[in-house]
Amino acid sequence: ARTAAVIPAAGRGVRLGPGAPKALRTLGGTPMLVHAVRAMADSRAVSLVVVVAPPDGAAEVKSLLDTHALPERTDVLVVPGGESRQESVKLGLDALPPGYDIVLVHDAARPLVPVDTVDAVIEAVRDGAPAVVPVLPLSDTVKQVEPAAAPGGPEPVVATPDRSLLRAVQTPQGFDRATLEHAHATVTGNVTDDAGMVEQLGTTVVAVPGHEEAFKVTRPLDLVLAEAVLARRRL
Ligand code: C5P
Repeated sequence: ARTAAVIPAAGRGVRLGPGAPKALRTLGGTPMLVHAVRAMADSRAVSLVVVVAPPDGAAEVKSLLDTHALPERTDVLVVPGGESRQESVKLGLDALPPGYDIVLVHDAARPLVPVDTVDAVIEAVRDGAPAVVPVLPLSDTVKQVEPAAAPGGPEPVVATPDRSLLRAVQTPQGFDRATLEHAHATVTGNVTDDAGMVEQLGTTVVAVPGHEEAFKVTRPLDLVLAEAVLARRRL
């Protein structure tokens, strides 16, 4: 079965502070999105990458990708995205040609995921799992809270879930294509990841080990860490 990767990259990246759309910000002089596309293309199993660009930025993203080298064996498609991440992923899926039976969904905001993690996710789908997520244990204890009485006020803590059973979820998430398409055609409402939609259909999702370097670049401090990881790789 051939494998394609869909990269939603249509977000504004508001939490990073003012500037260009997040995916176009540079790390080590190269746009984050280019790192993310290369991270997928580095896997020998991935032969197509579908990039979901900001709705008004598809042409700009296309020319940007044309100027950066990718492995010969990898095709790249650019399509315009939507209002939400979920909608952007759906638009990417709609653009997938026939013949790709395994689909990865990978955040442009995780530019440094190692190829071994990508391959481990694909392997688990090949072995029969309809949906696979890379995860890490949590280093912080997590509290469940109730909304504060007044905005900005203290939040009452209502529970402390057993940390040993909690995982932080990364991407790429890997899917049997039909399972993911069915989820995107059926599940509505706000979800923050694709595997969550599959879970809502009652389909089993399995977790495989993720990687520290697959962290999401969300806040300014994450940019500092990403630059440091890149610099270390270039030594
Ligand atoms: O906002 P969040 O950090 O969850 O975004 C995760 C990924 O989804 C990012 O790569 C972002 O570019 C993408 N996204 C998108 N379309 C949107 C919003 C977010 O492709 N409308």
